[in-house]
Amino acid sequence: MCGIVGYVGPNVDGRALDVVMEGLARLEYRGYDSAGIAVVDTARDTVATEKRAGKLENLRSALVTHPLPDTSTAIGHTRWATHGGPTDANAHPHRGGVDGKLALIHNGIIENFHALKRELLAERVAFSSETDTEVAAQLLAREFERTQDLTMAMLGVVNRLEGAFTLLAVHADAPGVVVGARRNSPLVVGLGDGENFLGSDVAAFIGHTRHALELGQDQIVTITPDGHEVITFDGEPAHGTAYEVTWDAAAAEKGGYPTFMEKEINDQPQAVADTLLGRTDETGRLVLDELRISEDQLDAVDRIVVVACGTAAYAGMVAKYAIEHWTRIPVEVSLAHEFRYSDPIVSPRTLVVSISQSGETMDTLMAVKHARQLGALTISVCNTHGSTIPRESDAVLYTHAGPEIAVASTKAFLAQITACYILGLYLAQLRGGTYADDAQAVMKELEGVPGKIADLLTHLDRVKEIARFMADTRSVLFLGRNVGYPVAMEGALKLKELAYIHAEGFAAGELKHGPIALIEAGQPVFIIVPGPDTPHELHKKVVSNIQEIRARGARTLVIAQEGDEDVVPFADEVIRVPHTSPLLQPLLTIVPLQVFALHLSTAKGLDVDQPRNLAKSVTVE
Ligand code: G6P
Repeated sequence: MCGIVGYVGPNVDGRALDVVMEGLARLEYRGYDSAGIAVVDTARDTVATEKRAGKLENLRSALVTHPLPDTSTAIGHTRWATHGGPTDANAHPHRGGVDGKLALIHNGIIENFHALKRELLAERVAFSSETDTEVAAQLLAREFERTQDLTMAMLGVVNRLEGAFTLLAVHADAPGVVVGARRNSPLVVGLGDGENFLGSDVAAFIGHTRHALELGQDQIVTITPDGHEVITFDGEPAHGTAYEVTWDAAAAEKGGYPTFMEKEINDQPQAVADTLLGRTDETGRLVLDELRISEDQLDAVDRIVVVACGTAAYAGMVAKYAIEHWTRIPVEVSLAHEFRYSDPIVSPRTLVVSISQSGETMDTLMAVKHARQLGALTISVCNTHGSTIPRESDAVLYTHAGPEIAVASTKAFLAQITACYILGLYLAQLRGGTYADDAQAVMKELEGVPGKIADLLTHLDRVKEIARFMADTRSVLFLGRNVGYPVAMEGALKLKELAYIHAEGFAAGELKHGPIALIEAGQPVFIIVPGPDTPHELHKKVVSNIQEIRARGARTLVIAQEGDEDVVPFADEVIRVPHTSPLLQPLLTIVPLQVFALHLSTAKGLDVDQPRNLAKSVTVE
């Protein structure tokens, strides 16, 4: 995530600074770990910067005591930390060059930054942060020295970077110019009259212009007060696509979606893709973000306990199936508050994996602290840099979902599952054996999943329609087996949280042992059907379960893979999801259920982003 703003225009009445601060305020939803600004100071032939950890308010106060000089050229950044904690030093902008005349801001993850940093360190370049961004700043400054042209310098750098990035740069020797570049991260141009803007999205400049220019993938844009030029990463001239922004300022923060939840559901392809980025070292081996456990200790692990609450606990249940399959290490999943007060059995060979979007859930934190006191090794899967749970853990694997604003979790869930897959493959790799060899193949398949989620999101009109028809429904049941079981539980949780409807998720095999008594004529039941290639003939077994409830009058809403025709005769509705191998299916099968809950809640006229009685981060036990 991270929010980015750039401005060039007249140097009058502090306009550049005002525009950038206003833009940052509108982009703060994209990240609030730190904020910073750089301006070109022509009088002193330098760039001046001010940056502060924490919310934009901290930067605003700093600017009162340390005002920045008047300028025509400014860039600003609001950060969602990925590499390096949320400190002043790691805040953007980062300077480049011996003279520090270049400033750069970045959104994304530069995957090969370790290798590039080593190269620069060998040339005695000094670094003042732990970020991947500073590497790009130093490379860009070096290229500027060679080319004396900021656009050409950017062209020289972008092709050396791997990963996802939007970069904006200014240089004291190029006043009146901001250069931006994008690959797999957003950047739009705002076209003004005698002034131009850049932003992560149109919210950055919507108060000033509604004329916007969408950039293509792998393009560089140079803005001056009177114009803009676009080139490709091959140096060929290019054109963006001009459009008029019709959203108002509030909608713009939500990317044009009516609610943050809808936006976050649509962010999911990016959340999964970003969580997969930068996970391997130069030799192709998987790596964790912060590791304070030796590989020998990890190798000796004989049992894993996942602790988490709510949605994160369901991500943990998915993780159990995958990690056990790939590593043959037994995995238990425990609700954090139950684990803490259950007199748990752990030893130095137990690995306790906590999963938390916020990193602040008190129940989970207490479980982690207790586990450590008892001598367990602890790993945190977390979405929030600098939060408490990762700090209290021996190792961290960050999910890169970006800030999740809606109370009910969606994109963090997918990112947590993805991170758990990475953890499972990492442990498999440490142990050697069959799945160590397969790790790369699974990672490859995972890389294809964001595209499938994006495709699925465009095919859910029928789900929205069903949700609208069901606004008066009083109870919905969800069934699944294997990794489909936690998906059923999460589908039910979404419906409880958002639509205040009685909903329950069951293991489909358990149906006949009790829950089937609930089935009466017209009872809606979602069934998550495993792909036909799932081992142990689970597909067939779930198809039988559908028949059993259909025979008793249930209305069957079946989530099945494309091409699975066996379900058709027994389904009142079939919702199709793209094919993946069995363990990865939750990344797709949960999506229609999120969309269903969202639209049912909307049909009931409820507050989707802030459902009653709930809090995003529960910091009491
Ligand atoms: C709260 C939220 C849930 C979330 C759970 C765990 O109950 O309402 O959406 O899943 O906390 O939060 P965490 O930040 O630890 O993932």
